[in-house]
Amino acid sequence: MTILVTGATGPIGRNLVEVLTTEGVRVRATSRKPQEAALSTGVEVVPTDAPGAEMFDGVDRMFVFPFENGVDDLMTAAVAAGVQRFVVLSSLAAAGELPREVASSSYRHHLAIERSVTSRTDNWTILRPGTFAGNLLSWAWPIRSGGPVRAPYIQSAQPPIHEADIADAAAVTLTQDGHRARIYPLTGPQSLTRIEQVAAISAAIGREIELQEITPDEFRAETARYIPEDIISMLLAYWSETVTTPDPVRPGFAALTGHPGRTLHQWAQDHRTAFTAA
Ligand SMILES: NC(=O)c1ccc[n+]([C@@H]2O[C@H](COP(=O)([O-])OP(=O)(O)OC[C@H]3O[C@@H](n4cnc5c(N)ncnc54)[C@H](OP(=O)(O)O)[C@@H]3O)[C@@H](O)[C@H]2O)c1
Repeated sequence: MTILVTGATGPIGRNLVEVLTTEGVRVRATSRKPQEAALSTGVEVVPTDAPGAEMFDGVDRMFVFPFENGVDDLMTAAVAAGVQRFVVLSSLAAAGELPREVASSSYRHHLAIERSVTSRTDNWTILRPGTFAGNLLSWAWPIRSGGPVRAPYIQSAQPPIHEADIADAAAVTLTQDGHRARIYPLTGPQSLTRIEQVAAISAAIGREIELQEITPDEFRAETARYIPEDIISMLLAYWSETVTTPDPVRPGFAALTGHPGRTLHQWAQDHRTAFTAA
């Protein structure tokens, strides 16, 4: 079995490549800069923007990363080349369960990605993770430099998911049978307030972290230079709503993967060097 992993050099992709190669699966990976991909030995890396024979030769299954552009062309080429099974990285937002989700750019983007796949094949599985624990790396710089974490809606609660758990869910659905035409919502195992999320990082690095609550307008002003406006609006709507209604843990992860989801404390341990001074 050969599995093509797109988006292989990101946090999920790297974990997925690692799990698959450890299981003895042959992996081909994509990157815009194959020479710099630095994946495990034995993993062939091909350019992302050249979906042709080099990419698909011998490939049976594919992990579909939700690139901003190019997924339609990738899927058309993959199906024409005979790839049989597709596991798609989407987002919980694509479920459109709430008005704030339907209003988000994430909903439109991930729904379009899902349709790129489901309109071309019946052999698909969709993974819909909620908020990534990795988003908390935006606190790495203030924490490393000893400053306070400044965040709005600190009483809001979410269940952040470890990237390794998303990779495990992808590995299971790529390599085991019984997941055809299934959609899996995925979250971390605990809904934690932003105060508790900071505390998890604090416990991992062994020192107090000051948390300052700021207003939504202050957050907008402080992040406008590096976060697109539609994402800022989506985040503020999410945090504001999850003050009174915590974002719940979605069940099913343990049944899917055979192990409980990794806690945020585990994630913080795994990333503690990102939060400590060099
Ligand atoms: N953050 C959340 O809370 C959340 C929640 C649900 C779903 N998601 C989805 O998960 C994705 C992030 O996953 P991740 O953190 O594992 O990935 P990532 O690090 O953002 O990207 C994975 C790899 O994809 C390639 N890539 C990135 N942007 C690209 C572009 N515009 N064109 C072509 N290649 C590109 C890069 O590889 P090379 O440089 O090697 O080419 C990168 O290393 C988001 O994009 C979103 O769709 C996120």
